Amino acid sequence: MEAHLAVVVLAAGEGTRMRSATPKVMHEIAGLPMLGHALATATALNAQYVVPVIRHEKEKLEPYIHTFYPQVHVSHQDEIPGTGRALECGLSVLPDDFSGAVVVTSADIPLLDVNTIESMLEVHLESGAGATLLTTVFEDPSGYGRIVRDLSGNFVSIVEHRDASEDELAINEVNAGVYVFDYDLVKTALSKIGTHNAAGEKYLTDVLTEIIKLGKNVKALKVRDNWLVAGVNTRVQLQQVSAELNRRICEGWMLAGVTIVDPNTTHIDVTAVLGEDVTLQPGTYLKGITSIGSGSVIGPEVTIHDSVIGENCQVKKSDINGSVIEAESTVGPFSYIRPGTHLGVGGKIGTFVETKNAKIGAGSKIPHLSYVGDATIGEHSNIGAGTIFANYDGVNKHHTTIGSHVRTGSHNVFVAPITIEDGAYTAAGTVVRKDVEAGDLAMNVAPQRNLAGWVLAKRAGTSSAEAAKRAKE
Ligand code: UD1
Ligand code: CA
Repeated sequence: MEAHLAVVVLAAGEGTRMRSATPKVMHEIAGLPMLGHALATATALNAQYVVPVIRHEKEKLEPYIHTFYPQVHVSHQDEIPGTGRALECGLSVLPDDFSGAVVVTSADIPLLDVNTIESMLEVHLESGAGATLLTTVFEDPSGYGRIVRDLSGNFVSIVEHRDASEDELAINEVNAGVYVFDYDLVKTALSKIGTHNAAGEKYLTDVLTEIIKLGKNVKALKVRDNWLVAGVNTRVQLQQVSAELNRRICEGWMLAGVTIVDPNTTHIDVTAVLGEDVTLQPGTYLKGITSIGSGSVIGPEVTIHDSVIGENCQVKKSDINGSVIEAESTVGPFSYIRPGTHLGVGGKIGTFVETKNAKIGAGSKIPHLSYVGDATIGEHSNIGAGTIFANYDGVNKHHTTIGSHVRTGSHNVFVAPITIEDGAYTAAGTVVRKDVEAGDLAMNVAPQRNLAGWVLAKRAGTSSAEAAKRAKE
């Protein structure tokens, strides 16, 4: 742990440009809220203190922070607006005797990585500058603060877009919003700045000019890869940054041995893990804590959320959530696998089959048109086409237990709670209301009766009756 390092993550702004009921920094990119990306980077720096500064809609941010980053020190910004005030509030949670460097980032710069901050810190500490900041060049710098340099290229100041002159607006080197300060110096500089600007806010950017006035050097380092410091203020920028992150994630997995047929329609969360020789067909979404075993072929059009897929599986046109599919299994097309499904090795869940809270043993198959809810199925059993596990009596849910090597007929209803033991059969069209013992055949269909001449008598004159008459001639 770096004893002389604190990282402050600014996240107290209103985010009005998102036009959303969800706070800006809780909008997701590749499966994590932007705040999550920022805190993951901040905590990876091993600083003694990580301080998220929050205010607007803090009740929506606090549970996330407390759940995933319980070790951080949350600071609450007061009613004075602006990034400068936010840092001041952030520093106020550090102990009085703190000394050293303070890294400042924003929760709306989701692609900022640990390497970039570490190299900035290194340059800062070696150069002895009072402050070091990151800049980059954007073809369209709208919205960003512009970097003003003197003729020798030294940093002079940052002018916010709203406060910039025509000439300053033409500058396309911008402030990334990532800084390292010396703690004592920035505290002094912050106490000197006001709110005399177009926004009426206490700008953090003004601190740099104060630091120069205090006789210290400010270093502005240009980041070449401008996506790393792209800020998100609108949903347009959210989409752009999210598409770029997805492109990078896909590229990373391809280099790790995954075939991705169409990265433009394949979306992989940062939290997903894939084995070698996985193939992802177009329209695949891998979300949350999901892992895919080597050799599996996923897609086209598959969404998998918080699930484990074993090796050499085939999953086509399906939706899988909160489930485990063991190796060598096939799922789909058109399966809806809901939470709590566990399909054993070499199993099959087929076309138009919905499952939920169902443990299905190795080699067992539910190939067609069925609902399997609240069930345990043994190994190597086959569930006939069009079977409904009737688990709900209108008030409570009940369990169905089916043994191993069971063969159930087509179009069955299993009225739970019910047990069908090992090696039993059921006939087509059976409504199973009584337990079936091992090796028994269950059937409840009445013998079929054919009423001779019924159509000719009761439907005389119809095309059916005419056809029947012709057939009899
Ligand atoms: C800021 C910079 C701008 C830079 C850009 C980079 C200032 C004044 N401007 O502008 O130079 O080019 O970032 O992306 O700093 N926040 C608070 N409290 C507040 C206001 C904002 O914590 O009172 C937080 C926000 O939640 C956000 C971050 O600070 O995470 C930046 O605020 P934002 O309003 O997005 O600033 P920009 O206009 O993008
Ligand atoms: Ca911003």
